Order: sequence, then C-alpha cells, then structure tokens
Amino acid sequence: MPVRLTALPADDAHAWLDQAVHTYVTAMRYPRGTERGRIGLWRDHLYRPGWIAVAALAPASPSELMQPTYARLRVRSSWTADNEIMAGVAYGYTGAPDQWWNRQLRTGLARRGHSPEQIEAITADYFELTELHVHPFAQGRGIGEALLQRLLDARPESRVLLSTPEVRGEENRAWSLYRRMGFTDVLRDFTFAGDPRPFAFLGRDLPLPTGRHAAV
Ligand SMILES: CC(C)(COP(=O)(O)OP(=O)(O)OC[C@H]1O[C@@H](n2cnc3c(N)ncnc32)[C@H](O)[C@@H]1OP(=O)(O)O)[C@@H](O)C(=O)NCCC(=O)NCCS
Repeated sequence: MPVRLTALPADDAHAWLDQAVHTYVTAMRYPRGTERGRIGLWRDHLYRPGWIAVAALAPASPSELMQPTYARLRVRSSWTADNEIMAGVAYGYTGAPDQWWNRQLRTGLARRGHSPEQIEAITADYFELTELHVHPFAQGRGIGEALLQRLLDARPESRVLLSTPEVRGEENRAWSLYRRMGFTDVLRDFTFAGDPRPFAFLGRDLPLPTGRHAAV
C-alpha cells in the first residue's frame, strides 16, 4: 500500500480533524460517540506553541470509498488527491507547566518521591507526543514508526515524552514501537485524574536514531 506523509495545517483543520479523530477512536477501540468529546480537545491543542501534526494518507479504490469505513477517512482539501484516506495520524507540541498533562506528570513524579530538582530536569524542555494512531487496516507496516520519525524530525526540544496505557507484558504494538525507538520509563502505573486506567510515561532524548523500517 503506497502511503505518503504530509503535515496537517492547523488553519485547515476542518478538512482533516473529523477523519483524524475517527482514526484515533478506531485505533484505540473506543466506543463510537467518543469522537464528540475528543474533537474539542484536539481543536484546543491546535494553536499551542510548537504544535505539529502529521498524517499518513493512502489511496483508496472507488469501491473502497463507497464503504462507510473508508468514507469516514476521506480527506478533501487542496493538498490531498481525490481518493486519499487517512491511514494514520500523530501530533504533539512543546510541553509547558500550565498544561494539564504536565501538571499530572509533575504530581505523579512528586508522589513517587522525586525531588523538585529531578522533576524540573524531567519536565524542563520536552516535546509532548500527544497522539499517535494508525487505522487497523494499515497497522504493522512501518507507518507508526514513519509518523514518529517525521513528527520528531528537527525538533528544538531536547527530549520527547509520552503517556500510553499500561499493558500486561508490554505486549502491544505501541509498546513494541516505543521500546524499539529507545523510549525508557519515566513514571509507571500512573492514573490520570478522572481515568481509572494505569498509564506509563515514557521518554527519550532527541533526536531519534534513523528508522529501522523505511516503509514510507
Ligand atoms: C501503535 C501504533 C501507532 C503503531 O503503528 P504501526 O504502524 O502499527 O507500527 P509499525 O508498523 O511501525 O510497527 C508495528 C509492527 O510492525 C512491524 N513492522 C514495521 N514495519 C515493517 C515492515 N516494513 N515490514 C515488516 N514489519 C514491519 C514492526 O516490527 C512492529 O512489529 P510488532 O508488531 O512486533 O511491534 C498502531 O499500532 C496503533 O495505532 N495502535 C492502536 C492505538 C495505539 O495504541 N496508539 C498509541 C497509544 S499511545
């Protein structure tokens, strides 16, 4: 499947935001309807300092475009071809102390006994990898790694941090990808306010090493 990566313009979000959130909800296997709450959150992030989003666009055949699964992923804008659908999406921005996620991380680190100096060192200068998702029809072909590489290419921050749900034995594609790319533990088994699931914070220094899979 030929896929191309493209930066998603914040000013053109009306052309891609629905499809991006649909990709995210499908990849995470969240219940339908979750999109409604999440679109507002994604939109709120568009103009944060250092925000960047990248999509993987794949061509679909006319018959595929008739199917509801693919129709929801169709992206129509001046920078897309008529038949392109969203196979994957990733975005993030520069972390800052006034952000909820940053405060949650600081709280978690403090509870585990980190000193203020240690917390400052971890959170002083980082890119938050907020979302990274590949639609199930396109997973396992190197698109996730390619999105990560593109998103983190030439960033000014010295580190990248992310949070991902804890999974027994770290046995899913997200964990496999992050470990492969050299992410190490920052904080494990943390529960965000309002969500009972345990999450891990992972991080690594930038820049990333050159990718192992050059699929895209
Ligand atoms: C996590 C996720 C973004 C990774 O994207 P992806 O495109 O599936 O990832 P990759 O293809 O780069 O890597 C996945 C696997 O494909 C393999 N692979 C990658 N490129 C390959 C290639 N060209 N040839 C053969 N195998 C390849 C990798 O070795 C890896 O193997 P693994 O399954 O043993 O881990 C995606 O699977 C996803 O959206 N999952 C659900 C949502 C999610 O968990 N998001 C992250 C939340 S923090």
